[in-house]
Amino acid sequence: MILNLPKEEKIKAPAQVDIIKTWIWTEKGLYLLDQRKLPLEEKYILCDNIYKIRNAIRDLVVRGAPAIGICAAIGFAIEFKNYVSNIKKEEILKNKIEEEIGKISNLLATARPTAVNLFWAISKMRKLCLDFLENFKRKVPKKSLLELAEILEREALIIWEEDIKANLKMAEFGKGLLPEGGILTHCNTGALATGGYGTALGVIRKTSENKKKILVFVDETRPFLQGARLTAWELSKLKIPYKIITDNSAGFLMKRGEISAVVVGADRIAKNGDTANKIGTYSLAVLAHYHKIPFFIAAPSSTFDLQIESGEEIPIEERSPTEVLTCFKSKIAPPKSQAYNLAFDITPGDLITAFITEKGIILPPYKENILKTIKNED
Ligand code: MRU
Repeated sequence: MILNLPKEEKIKAPAQVDIIKTWIWTEKGLYLLDQRKLPLEEKYILCDNIYKIRNAIRDLVVRGAPAIGICAAIGFAIEFKNYVSNIKKEEILKNKIEEEIGKISNLLATARPTAVNLFWAISKMRKLCLDFLENFKRKVPKKSLLELAEILEREALIIWEEDIKANLKMAEFGKGLLPEGGILTHCNTGALATGGYGTALGVIRKTSENKKKILVFVDETRPFLQGARLTAWELSKLKIPYKIITDNSAGFLMKRGEISAVVVGADRIAKNGDTANKIGTYSLAVLAHYHKIPFFIAAPSSTFDLQIESGEEIPIEERSPTEVLTCFKSKIAPPKSQAYNLAFDITPGDLITAFITEKGIILPPYKENILKTIKNED
């Protein structure tokens, strides 16, 4: 996966991160590895304005809760810089800038509804702008806005770097929890879905680096096939043994004793531990409970939504029926068939054995322990 950039194009980040480079940020914009095309093609798309970044998030060029948050932060920084660069006057009215910040925030926030990391990152960037503007009365000099554009770039980089650090910490905390044997995972939670390394897949990666004998069972994850296309692609690059299974195989494999634990990621976790994740996660949790198999969620604190009491309040994205009715652009159902394409489901907290976070392992009772561990500092 090599992106041949012209020599003169300065790279902002990453200096180095992982063997899997989900994106590369240069002075020209954000090059996103097009996840719709993996594993058949490894192609990057250049996103140099907010519309391209928003569409990339909406259309799953980039996906996975932490990755969406980081891309939104970078998109915010890129668009603010574009805006300031086009200002002709030496000074600009403060309310015009606030309007622009509102526009950028709204555009990004409407890309996808479920992953809270998106809103978490936008609100961090927006707050930084508003705090900065507090220093001015009615007008702001252009040179101060250029300074703010630099601050926003730095903040986006911090959000990215902090996510990688969180993944590495989660992996350290989680590696002792996973037993040897068959580990089942759903969707994609690796470097492609995060700043680097991964959440659930990061824990699996570290467990395997620690020479525990594991075989990863990868749910194919219909309809977008995040498992069969993306997780399998990452695992093969990492040389970790895996087998792809159809989404309906899990129960029988559990019954036959072939699964020792399930570990998945999350898109939003409520105060009581109810967790939104890729559709199919709830069924896995019910099956794991029935077969008395541990069921873990690995997620950074940016995925916890401490504003909401339970999963009832989590908006569930409904995507186009076309995703279900076609496979690689070929129609797979009779003409005029309807499809119901919910992208996420909610797993009740009481089906979850533990949360693996960068702040430590959280055990039940979640109503008390989530709040104690994940303090809402923002
Ligand atoms: O629709 P997607 O591919 O964005 O859904 C992703 C998931 O559900 C992941 O499991 C979740 O975001 C955790 S990623 C570390």
